[in-house]
Amino acid sequence: MRTPLVMGNWKMHGTLAEARTLATAIRDGLKRPRGVEVVVCPPFTALAAVGEILAGSPIRLGAQNCHWEASGAYTGEVSPAMLAELGCRYVLVGHSERRRELGETDQRISLKVQAALAHGLTPVLCVGETADERRQGLTFTTVEGQLRAGRAGMMPDAVGKIVLAYEPVWAIGTGVNATPAQAAEVHGYLRGLLSELTSKETAQTIRILYGGSVKADNADALAAEPEIDGALVGGASLNAPGFIAIVRKTARAGAAVRGE
Ligand code: PGA
Repeated sequence: MRTPLVMGNWKMHGTLAEARTLATAIRDGLKRPRGVEVVVCPPFTALAAVGEILAGSPIRLGAQNCHWEASGAYTGEVSPAMLAELGCRYVLVGHSERRRELGETDQRISLKVQAALAHGLTPVLCVGETADERRQGLTFTTVEGQLRAGRAGMMPDAVGKIVLAYEPVWAIGTGVNATPAQAAEVHGYLRGLLSELTSKETAQTIRILYGGSVKADNADALAAEPEIDGALVGGASLNAPGFIAIVRKTARAGAAVRGE
């Protein structure tokens, strides 16, 4: 069975001092999270400091982006090798904010997914439709295109090593989350596709997270859906008690889904 995963995406927020305070509060509030894996993704500038705070704790470190080369003349970029050296285990790839505002293309995203895997990082491939695409009935087409493009060039068994995050663009930072039924429908569709791209058995092991306005008061209803394997949390991950509540609720709902 899939262990739920809750990831905090801190985006471009916080001073170093604030990152330290937040990481310390999350570490101290989640000493032994049971039945859930917890990851925080601070800005690059805070990765080393947060990594030191989390060392020896069950909370894992992730990054928000990476380049696809291990090193080279890429001014301003950070390589997956550099992230692995800092102790990162996960890296977000293809977040809609990067696709939309920073010109991230499907082709680059697929290179990043492969580079992350090559350096022992788990890529968290983000997919999701815009409000317009949903209105036009293009939700499945959009996420299917993004998933197929993101895994281009990968062997089927490598696909089994990624995490997928369904993040409808209209739900990110808006306070309007997808309903559990809306999210579960897309997750089910994505899992069907993963079966095709890998195997039925492997697809059952891949975690599909939901992201977009997840908060403490909707986390349990979302995680109660058997197809939703956790949350990618933006805004609400900047508040330690709120993030800890999301982790606890997700763990509890996941245990109920597994009949524990
Ligand atoms: P949000 O962001 O929780 O603030 O909506 C989610 C994300 O962008 O990963």
